[in-house]
Amino acid sequence: MSTEREKQVAAEAAAELVENGMTVGLGTGSTVAYLLPALAKRSLDILCAATSPATEHAARELGLRIEAVTSIDRFDVTIDGADQIAPDGWLVKGGGGAHTREKIVAGAAEAFVVIADSTKPVPALRSPVPLELMSFGLRATIRRVAGGASGTVTLRDVPLSPDGGVIADYRGPVKDPAELAARLSSAPGVVAHGLFPPEMVAVVLVGRGESVERTDLAGR
Ligand code: A5P
Repeated sequence: MSTEREKQVAAEAAAELVENGMTVGLGTGSTVAYLLPALAKRSLDILCAATSPATEHAARELGLRIEAVTSIDRFDVTIDGADQIAPDGWLVKGGGGAHTREKIVAGAAEAFVVIADSTKPVPALRSPVPLELMSFGLRATIRRVAGGASGTVTLRDVPLSPDGGVIADYRGPVKDPAELAARLSSAPGVVAHGLFPPEMVAVVLVGRGESVERTDLAGR
């Protein structure tokens, strides 16, 4: 079974969780690309906000009602993909460089639903961990984040984020995601990193063949 089909079945299952009257945060990426038509097809009375210009454009084209994230203080549900999903619910996100906005919209949701194909669950997280960095003081931030001999930080050859951030990747040990997340968050100049904690995640929907495997994490 193709991973594309698995993304689609996971995305369609997530679209079924959305109800009339909800405010919905829309993630970014190739799995979310399957969510948008599935959501549009349901013709619900919902208000959506997007985590990237690409998602916003695609959602508008499909007739979904979109408002700027800036004018919304909470979401009933946010649905997004992931690059890696650990057994304990830690995620790596930001393969597309949109993790700062994605983290804000996931963190503002009553329920954050992760959708993925069967290649995304991993036995343990590994680098690269995406970063968004301020350009001011960039060299000093890179040196601090790399943490001596244990890691490296490389800048991605991509445009700045829509918020002016520099997209980069940390490579190094990810044995303890909580410890690494705390270290990355505490470095001045790091806008956001791509490690998302299990406490943020309510439901994981993984497409396997034609089926969807559901894991509920909220209330751990
Ligand atoms: C975007 O920056 C990422 O966080 C994506 O949400 C994540 O990489 C999943 O993308 P795919 O659905 O394309 O695998």
